[in-house]
Amino acid sequence: MGNNFNWLNRSCSAVWHPCTQMKHHNTGVFPLVPVARGKGAWLYDHEGRRYLDAISSWWVNLFGHSNSRINAALKDQLDQLEHVMLAGFTHSPIVELSERLLELTKGVLGHCFYASDGSSAVEIALKMSFHYWHNSGRSEKNRFICLVGGYHGETLGTLGIGDVDLYKNVYSPLLRQATTMPSPDTRTAYPGETAVDVAARAAAVLELYLTEYHEITAAFIVEPLVQGAGGMVMYDPHYLRLARELCDRYDVHLICDEVMVGFGRTGTFFAYEQADIHPDFLCLSKGLTGGYLPLSVVMTKGMVYDAFYDDAIARGFLHSHSYTGNPLSCRAALATLDIFIEDDVIKRNQQFARKFCTLLEPLAKHPLTRNFRQCGMIWAVDINTEDIDFRMRFYREALRKEVLLRPLGATIYFMPPYILSDQEAGLLAERAVEALDASLL
Ligand SMILES: Cc1ncc(COP(=O)(O)O)c(C=O)c1O
Repeated sequence: MGNNFNWLNRSCSAVWHPCTQMKHHNTGVFPLVPVARGKGAWLYDHEGRRYLDAISSWWVNLFGHSNSRINAALKDQLDQLEHVMLAGFTHSPIVELSERLLELTKGVLGHCFYASDGSSAVEIALKMSFHYWHNSGRSEKNRFICLVGGYHGETLGTLGIGDVDLYKNVYSPLLRQATTMPSPDTRTAYPGETAVDVAARAAAVLELYLTEYHEITAAFIVEPLVQGAGGMVMYDPHYLRLARELCDRYDVHLICDEVMVGFGRTGTFFAYEQADIHPDFLCLSKGLTGGYLPLSVVMTKGMVYDAFYDDAIARGFLHSHSYTGNPLSCRAALATLDIFIEDDVIKRNQQFARKFCTLLEPLAKHPLTRNFRQCGMIWAVDINTEDIDFRMRFYREALRKEVLLRPLGATIYFMPPYILSDQEAGLLAERAVEALDASLL
C-alpha cells in the first residue's frame, strides 16, 4: 500500500491535478490528501487518518462512499456487459434509466441524450438549442444569455456562458461570450425588499433584453435556485417562473443546468419543480450515478426532438462521445434512483435539514459571518474577511480537524452526502466553527 508520503511524492511527479496551482502542493499551501479508501461519509488515508466528506467529493456523492447497494449493482453489471458503443446499439440499463428519468419529469422531458460529464451535457444543450433553431429556419437565433456569477463548466463553450473570472478570464480571447443578466441573488435585496422582489427586479432586466434581442437569442441558461461555483448564491423560485414566462413569450429556450442542484440537493428531486415549471432542456450529471462513475444526460421536450427527426442525416444531432451511455454508469444511476425510493430520501433530507440548521446556529451567529443561507441540502455562509489566503487556511484547519470543507472565496458551504448520522452532523458543525476560529488571523 505504501504510506502517505510515498503517494504524495509520486502523485506530485506524475499527476497534474485539476483546478490546482501545482506549486501549492509542494509548498504546503494546498495540502494533497492521499486517499486509500472511503466508507460512508468518511475518506481514509494510508495512515488511518480520516476526513468527513462534507462537500460530497465536489457535489457528486449522494449516499456515501463504497455504498453496498451501488457496489452490488455494479458487480452484477460487470459480469454482463461493461461497455458497448451507443450509436447503433442499445442495452437494458440505458433504456430503463431513460424511462425512469422521463417519469421523474412527469413525462414532460425525454429522449435522453447522454455524455460523460456536466460540461459536455451543457455543450450538448447549447448545440441542440442552436441546431433546433437552425432546423426551424431561424439560424440567426444563435446567441446565449446567462446569469452574472453563473458556472456551467470548463470547456470553451461552457466558459463562454459562465461568469466566474478566475476560471475564464485568461481564455477570453478564445470564447464566444454570452450576455450576462443580473443574478436574482437574494443577498442583493434593498432594505424592505423580499426575495420575490429581488427576483422580479432581476427578471425585469431580462425582459428588457429579450424585448430587444429575442430574434437573435437561442437560449437562456440558468442554474436553478442555487448558483454553485459562483459562491452558493441562492434565489427565489419566482425568478424561474418569470424566466419561463419570458422565454415562452419571446420564443427563447430555457436551459436548466441542474448538474449541481439535481437529485434532491435543493429539497425537491429537481430544483425547477419548486417553480412549478419545466425547462426546454435539462442538464444532469454529478449525483446521477451517486458519485460513482462519469455520466451526464440532456433531456428535452418533444418539440425539440421533433425538429431533428427527418430523412436528412444533417438535420439529426450528430454529436457523440466514446463512453456515451456506458452500462456500468447506467447501473450505478439505476441503483441510485432505487435508493431514493427505498429510503424515502427527499423526506429524510427535510428532517435532516431542519436539524442541521439548528446545529449550524453557532456558525450563523458567529461575529465574523454574515448571510447564512440554506436551500435543501446546501448551506452557505459568508466570512467577513478581505484576506485572499483565508480560503486555503480554513481548508487546512478543517482537514486538521478531520473535516473536508473547501470554501469558495470567503464563502464556507456544506453539501454533505445524504447519509450523515446525527453524530456526524454534530461533529461537522462543531469542527467548522473551530476551523473558522483557528483560521482567522
Ligand atoms: C452547475 C454546473 N454545471 C456544469 C458543471 C460542470 O460539470 P463537470 O465538472 O462534470 O464538467 C458544474 C461543475 O461543477 C456545475 O456545478
